[in-house]
Amino acid sequence: MSSSQHLLHIFSFALFFFLSRAAEKPHGLILPIRKNCTTLQYYTEVDMGTPLSNANVVIDLGGKLLWFDCDGYNSSSYHLLPCNSSKCKAATTYECTDCNYPYFSDCSKNFCGVYPYNPLGNGFIAAGLALGEDIMSVSSTDGISYLLSVESRHFPFSCSSTREGSILGSELSGGTKGMIGLSRARSALSSQLASAFKLPHIFALCLPNSSATDPGDIFIGGDHTTCYLTEMCLAYDHPTHPQPGKQFPNSNIHSDEYFIGVKSIHVDRKHVSFKESLLSINKKGIGGTKLSTLAPYTISQTSIYKALVKDFVKAAASRKIKRVTSVAPFGACFSSKIIASSQTGPAVPLQSKSLYFRIYGANSMVEVEKDVLCLGSVDGGSNPTTSVVLGGHPLENYLLEFDLASSKLGFSTSLLPRNTTCSHYRLS
Ligand SMILES: *[C@@H]1O[C@H](CO)[C@@H](O)[C@H](O)[C@H]1NC(C)=O
Ligand SMILES: *[C@@H]1O[C@H](CO)[C@@H](O)[C@H](O)[C@H]1NC(C)=O
Ligand SMILES: *[C@@H]1O[C@H](CO)[C@@H](O)[C@H](O)[C@H]1NC(C)=O
Ligand SMILES: *[C@@H]1O[C@H](CO)[C@@H](O)[C@H](O)[C@H]1NC(C)=O
Ligand SMILES: *[C@@H]1O[C@H](CO)[C@@H](O)[C@H](O)[C@H]1NC(C)=O
Repeated sequence: MSSSQHLLHIFSFALFFFLSRAAEKPHGLILPIRKNCTTLQYYTEVDMGTPLSNANVVIDLGGKLLWFDCDGYNSSSYHLLPCNSSKCKAATTYECTDCNYPYFSDCSKNFCGVYPYNPLGNGFIAAGLALGEDIMSVSSTDGISYLLSVESRHFPFSCSSTREGSILGSELSGGTKGMIGLSRARSALSSQLASAFKLPHIFALCLPNSSATDPGDIFIGGDHTTCYLTEMCLAYDHPTHPQPGKQFPNSNIHSDEYFIGVKSIHVDRKHVSFKESLLSINKKGIGGTKLSTLAPYTISQTSIYKALVKDFVKAAASRKIKRVTSVAPFGACFSSKIIASSQTGPAVPLQSKSLYFRIYGANSMVEVEKDVLCLGSVDGGSNPTTSVVLGGHPLENYLLEFDLASSKLGFSTSLLPRNTTCSHYRLS
């Protein structure tokens, strides 16, 4: 071997070593987020199994698990998880020794029973399924591009059969066949991948406002997202601490969802007046403000909703914006003919939840038909479990960073004044 060949050999060995190391420990991981403009659901694509097959799954920010309809999924690396595994403990709320759960009364089989939950329907739709695990392939990222794919070899998820899938899968967008959870639970996507690749337990979401061709992103693993897109550094100067909440009133089941500490709501800097205790979570687990990717708009308890609509209509009138007949489910609609448009969308009164989270026209208003814009807020009834649910539309084109280890949530300011959106990248 000549010395140059030798060098080349060392070089390629080093390169190989570097690449395989890079594959083992990426800086971060990235998954695309697309929006179905009919159902207003956000979904991503997961690549699972041997051979790899892909599934589109609806993103549930408050969900615990990945589940999808495994009809046609024939992976040689899939296997069921035993009840006494740590992955099972992370995904369930009951003890393994509790054999009284329906569907799982045969303790001798020692498999892990879980209850994937689909909150999209009108009722509580859950199905008892077994928890399994398989390979998940996901793109690594430097915070900007989709790079080499890396594999998590033991990703927990549930396979619903077509039969269960048809119950669980009702209300899912066409072209999707399951859901993926991004909650604080250890069984959720973010925790599982961060643990598998020894990354910080941080993830960020950038929800796109429109089409399937220009996706937004889920970033997992932290560090890079603080300076995602050159000038779009995330300010942690207004951290909001997710509060512990209870998912089901009067139960001890703690929610893994993200509650934020909104203390007041303003329209054009004026305080909207309602009973502010509704914004905190009481002992029964009722109240508070949560983030949801499943609700398309903002849903507020009736008295909050009415106060907000009243103040918004008043502020719009003082700007000479003409009100028109409401279009359900919205309660305040306006003619957009004379509303000026700005970089942040229609120039309507500015809404803010707490001092920092400003909701500009693009995020507060929904175009329901030509020349008609409605305040994207709906009445959640007088006794909802959660007083304010900030759905997808108000969160679009912001970068939201969830730091699971320190329970902090960072909001960027709206990306729109910076001439950028979450659909900044195109997948190659
Ligand atoms: C599933 O895969 C196994 C081996 O990997 C094969 O024998 C079997 O025929 C496959 N079944 C279907 C329905 O494709
Ligand atoms: C789980 O149960 C199996 C069979 O019952 C046993 O062999 C295994 O050691 C147990 N694992 C743990 C982590 O307890
Ligand atoms: C969006 O969902 C609707 C209703 O389920 C479906 O008909 C449509 O094909 C979906 N669009 C895309 C782009 O997947
Ligand atoms: C998404 O937002 C951008 C920037 O405000 C806007 O140009 C575009 O029309 C929006 N798309 C939809 C479907 O609202
Ligand atoms: C954003 O883009 C518009 C039109 O493309 C341009 O007029 C404006 O100066 C840009 N603003 C910034 C902050 O770059």
